[in-house]
Amino acid sequence: PIEKRIEDLLARMTLEEKVMQLNQYTLGRNDNANNMADPVNDIPAQIGSLIYFGSNADLRNRVQKKAMEQSRLGIPIIFGYDVIHGFRTIYPISLAQACAWNPKLVEQACGVAAQEARMSGVDWTFSPMIDVARDGRWGRVAEGYGEDPYTNAVFTVASVKGYQGTDLSSEKNVAACLKHYIGYGASEAGRDYVYSEISRQTLWDTYMLPYEQGVKAGAATLMSSFNDISGTPGSANHYTLTEVLKDRWKHDGFVVSDWGSIEQLRPQGVAANKKEAALKAFTAGVEMDMMNRCYDNHLGELVKEGKVSEALLNESVRRVLRVKFRLGLFDRPYTPTTTEKQRFYRPESMKIAEQLAEESIVLLKNQNKALPLNKVSKIAVIGPIAQTKWHLLGSWAAQGNAEEVTTVVDALKAEYKDKAEVTYALGCDFDGQDKKNFEEAKNVAANADVIVLCLGEKKNWSGENASRSTIALPQIQEELAVELKKLGKPVILVLSSGRPLELNRLEPISDAILTMWHPGTPGGKPLAGVLSGRVNPSGKLSMTFPYSTGQIPIYYNYRQSARPHQGKYQDIPSTPLYEFAHGLSYTTFQYGELKVSATQIKRGSKLLVEIPVSNTGDRDGVETVHWFIQDPVSSISRPIKELKHFEKQLLKKGETKTYKFEIDPERDLSFVDGNGKRFLEAGDYNILVKNKKIKVEIVD
Ligand code: IFM
Repeated sequence: PIEKRIEDLLARMTLEEKVMQLNQYTLGRNDNANNMADPVNDIPAQIGSLIYFGSNADLRNRVQKKAMEQSRLGIPIIFGYDVIHGFRTIYPISLAQACAWNPKLVEQACGVAAQEARMSGVDWTFSPMIDVARDGRWGRVAEGYGEDPYTNAVFTVASVKGYQGTDLSSEKNVAACLKHYIGYGASEAGRDYVYSEISRQTLWDTYMLPYEQGVKAGAATLMSSFNDISGTPGSANHYTLTEVLKDRWKHDGFVVSDWGSIEQLRPQGVAANKKEAALKAFTAGVEMDMMNRCYDNHLGELVKEGKVSEALLNESVRRVLRVKFRLGLFDRPYTPTTTEKQRFYRPESMKIAEQLAEESIVLLKNQNKALPLNKVSKIAVIGPIAQTKWHLLGSWAAQGNAEEVTTVVDALKAEYKDKAEVTYALGCDFDGQDKKNFEEAKNVAANADVIVLCLGEKKNWSGENASRSTIALPQIQEELAVELKKLGKPVILVLSSGRPLELNRLEPISDAILTMWHPGTPGGKPLAGVLSGRVNPSGKLSMTFPYSTGQIPIYYNYRQSARPHQGKYQDIPSTPLYEFAHGLSYTTFQYGELKVSATQIKRGSKLLVEIPVSNTGDRDGVETVHWFIQDPVSSISRPIKELKHFEKQLLKKGETKTYKFEIDPERDLSFVDGNGKRFLEAGDYNILVKNKKIKVEIVD
C-alpha cells in the first residue's frame, strides 16, 4: 500500500512541490543559520525536511502543523538531527563503543538514543558514521568505529538495528543515515574537507563493506561525503551513488548531501556555479540538498530545460516519500507531548550508557599489577580531566547536558567512600604554558599513596573540522606528568580523548595506563569501578595507538610488503605502541590448542575452528577473542591479516570456554576486486588467533 500511496501523491504534485521535497533547511538553530526570524512564519509549508535543533517537540509540531494544513497536499516534513552517541543520555563516542566489542549493547544504546530523539520530535538521525579511519589526526575518528572494515560493518548493522528497530513507524525508532558516503575517513593528512586518494581496489577493499552491510540491514538513508574520491567528489559520484548504491545494492531510500557539499562542488573544481553543482549532484544520485539552496533554486529550471529528466525527479521524490511513509509520518505527523522525565535519563537508559562506558575502557598497561587500587588509603586525583563534566561528553553530544555528568573526582569519592581519602588538584589546564598550579598538585600528590593522573583532550578537539597536527598531548600535560613522577609514587595515567594518543613520553613514567575515551553522561563512574577493582576491564582497542604521530597512517591490516623485515624507521620503532585489539585484564587468560574441523576443503563447504581459553588468574574476567585470516599468496596482494569474527565471553576464575568461528570460505576467505566482484581462490589460508596459527587449504 505504501507504493500505491506514493504513486497517488506523486501524480498530484506540481514541479515546484516535487522540488521542495528535495530540500532541507534548519529549524531552531541558535545562530539562525538560514536567516529566518520566525521559523514558523518563514519556513515554507512545502519544505521536504528540516534539521531540528530542539530538545522537545513543540516547535517541530508547530512547523509540522503548517506543513500539514497550509501546503496544498499536506505532506509531512521529516525532521533530522545529529544524534551521534545519544540524544540527551550520552553514551561513549563510537570509537570507544567499538572497544567494548559488544554489538548487542551498541544496538541497545542506539535504541535509547532513538527513543529519546523520536519522543523529542526527531524522526531521522544522521548516524551512524561508518568511515574506516586510519589517521588519528582527523578529528572525526571519534565518530566512527575505528580502523577496520569488518569492525565498522558489524557496528553499522548493530546501530542501524538499534535506531530503526523492526518498524520504522514506531514512536521509539528513527531512520538511520549511513555517512559519509564515501571515503571521508581517507581525508589526506587528517585534514577535514579535503581530497582523498582512493583506488577502486582500496575503495572496495577498505571502505565499502560497512556501507554494503548497512544497506543490507535496511538503513533508510545515506549522506554523501565532502571529500572527493581520486578526483570525483562523493556528492557528485555517479559510480558510488547510482551504479553501486542504487543499481547494485538496490537501496530504495534516499541520499542527503552533507551540509553544503553540493554547493562545494564549485570550490572542489567540478562545477562552475550552483546550477551546475545541482545538476551534477542530482544526476549522480543525491536526492536531498542539505543547506545548499542549490536544488530549490535550480532544479525546477534544470527539469524545464530538459537537463534533468522528469523520470529522475519523480524517482527521487518517490524515495523521499517512501521514507516518510515508512516512518508513519503521513498517519502520525505530530510528536506526542511528553515530559523530560518521561523521555530522558530513564534508569534503564543510564544503565546501558554506564555498561557501555565500562566495557569500552581499555587497560593499556598494568606494570607490577599497579591496578586495581584496592589497598590504598590516600588517592591524589590530578589533571584537567579530573573535575570536568563538559569535556567528558565528547564531540557531537546532541542535547547532552553536562550537569548530569559525574566527574572523575566525584565518582572516586563515591566509589571509595570510607575506604580511602580522595584529594584533588588541577595541575594544569588542557593546554597553554601556565605552570602555576604545578606546585599545588605536587603537594597534594606528595601526601597520597598513588597519583591518578587524568590527562586528555577537550571535547572540541575531535569531531568535525577538529584535526590536530600531532596526536600527542600538549606539552604542559606531559610536563606535569614528569614533575609528578619525580615524587616516586605510582602514577596511574587515565586518558580521556576522542582519538588514539601519542604516549611515548608518558608511557615510561606511568605504572598503569587506561583510556576511558570520551565516556558521555556516565562520566567518571565506570572508570572509578575499574580503578577500585569492582569492575574488571575488558575493552580492546578498535584503533592502533601509534608510537608517534610520524607513524601515521598505521593500522594492523596493512598490505604484505616487498621486504617484510626492512623498510623500518631509523629514528623510532616501526611497530605501534599499542596495536589494534590490545587490551589487558586484571586476570590472565591462556589460549589452548587451535583446532580446525578439516585442513582441506572444497568450495561450498564450511569449516569450524575453535580454541579453548582458560581464565588462569584469580578473578572472573571477560575475554574477547579476535579471529583473523591471512591469504599469503593470491592474485592481488592481501593484507597481512584481516579480522573476520570476534566473540566475547565471561570466564569465571578457573573456567575454560571454547570460542568458535564457523568459516564460510565464500564470505570469509574471499576478496573483492576493483569492481566489487568477490573471488575465492584455491590455495592456502591461515587462521590466526592471538599468537596461534593454523593452515587450511581450499581445493577446486
Ligand atoms: O551530519 C553532519 C555531518 O556529519 C557533517 N556536516 C553537518 C551534518 C549535519 O549536521
